[in-house]
Amino acid sequence: MCYAIPGKLARIEGSIGIVDYYGERRKILLDDNSVKPGDYVFAQGGILIRKIPESEAEEILKTWKEIFVELQQVDEALSKINANDTPDNVLAVLQKVNHRKTLTREELKALFSLKTTNECAVLYEVANHVRQRSHGNASCVHGIIEFSNACSLNCHYCGIRRDRDIQRYRMSVEEILCAAQRAVEDYGFNALVLQSGEDYSYDDDLLEFIVKKVRQLGVLVFVSIGSRSSKTYQQLYEAGARAALLRFETSNPKLFESLRPGTKWEKRISLIEDIKNMGYVLATGFLLGLPGETIDDVVNNILLTKQLNPEMVSFGPLIPVKETPLENSPKVEVDDVLKAIAVTRLADANANILVTTALETLDKDARKRALLAGANSMMINVTPSNFKSLYSIYDRNDEEIAESVVKTVKLLHSLGRAPTDLGR
Ligand code: 5AD
Ligand code: SF4
Repeated sequence: MCYAIPGKLARIEGSIGIVDYYGERRKILLDDNSVKPGDYVFAQGGILIRKIPESEAEEILKTWKEIFVELQQVDEALSKINANDTPDNVLAVLQKVNHRKTLTREELKALFSLKTTNECAVLYEVANHVRQRSHGNASCVHGIIEFSNACSLNCHYCGIRRDRDIQRYRMSVEEILCAAQRAVEDYGFNALVLQSGEDYSYDDDLLEFIVKKVRQLGVLVFVSIGSRSSKTYQQLYEAGARAALLRFETSNPKLFESLRPGTKWEKRISLIEDIKNMGYVLATGFLLGLPGETIDDVVNNILLTKQLNPEMVSFGPLIPVKETPLENSPKVEVDDVLKAIAVTRLADANANILVTTALETLDKDARKRALLAGANSMMINVTPSNFKSLYSIYDRNDEEIAESVVKTVKLLHSLGRAPTDLGR
């Protein structure tokens, strides 16, 4: 099974390669000069991952060709806007989007404040249309390995915070590599996220070793290891990591510092900026539904996300966790998450927006609804099951990897999405 269609390198312009996927062109960053025009390549997150032999590529492309065109047609049909009963004020804003004009803060706020089912439905349709116009039917599916649930921090919202009495685990290098190898060889993943709490028992050199080994499997190595130092991120970049996931959590510094004892909001933001400047593919975002959060905070979250200029946006609802200071927080409404996805899409047509697991825990159809409200990428948990159940940031329904892969591919196909790289 394969989650990325290979592309043919059409042209090279400096460090940028133009890759052709059945006539659709996308730009990728060439990390080295090991490829030439005419080569077949796998790319992920807009970065060259590896060259693949022509015979292998042609076989995959042959199998995909017919289905690719069929999927595109399904996606196009599902991306049409049916704005019959849309109120005039909503229509005016949406027409602005249609003309590719930038929306003001007030307009974004008005969209996030929409209430009726009918208004929300139009908002989602327009966001889906904009997603289709910018990305075609491309979707990315990354695997995630949660390699340690130990954390030195004590964030009020988190189920693996230092003071919560849970069983901790740390995967050994062998266990991590074995899980990574399985994800690549048995399930065909081309990008793997290595995630943990802020766990300093993996020192910089150990992380470097792990990154190098996983990179050798020929995948995009994505790190999600919290507020480690810029020096650590630099060392891991040099070891071959090319993407990093670090949310800013909230654009409200006071809220950030009250919920994350001992940490500074400004430091977090400057670390995210450093990571971006190092050349990482950046994934960042926020939590929705923190206590005391206002609609202005949410709009600021969306605007700050845009300002940080990430390649990928990751945000999700707060899921209250037992025996944490936020255990009694109210449940976030699915529509608030969908509206935030749609408004983010309208604020930034080119964003790659992830559907997060936290959203899936709110509603069994949430993934589908999110993909139809402007989202275009997903993650599948490939942590071995004995560890997965202990990674209790929040309660979730864990599935077997194989089951999750089959369901995800089925869902993507039903919506006409194809696993091409999202490009730049
Ligand atoms: N609900 C939802 N997301 C959470 N995170 C931490 N705790 C929760 C929770 N209870 C998110 C944070 C963090 C990421 C790893 O998990 O946004 O950045
Ligand atoms: Fe640790 Fe991250 Fe949880 Fe905070 S949110 S306690 S840093 S794992």
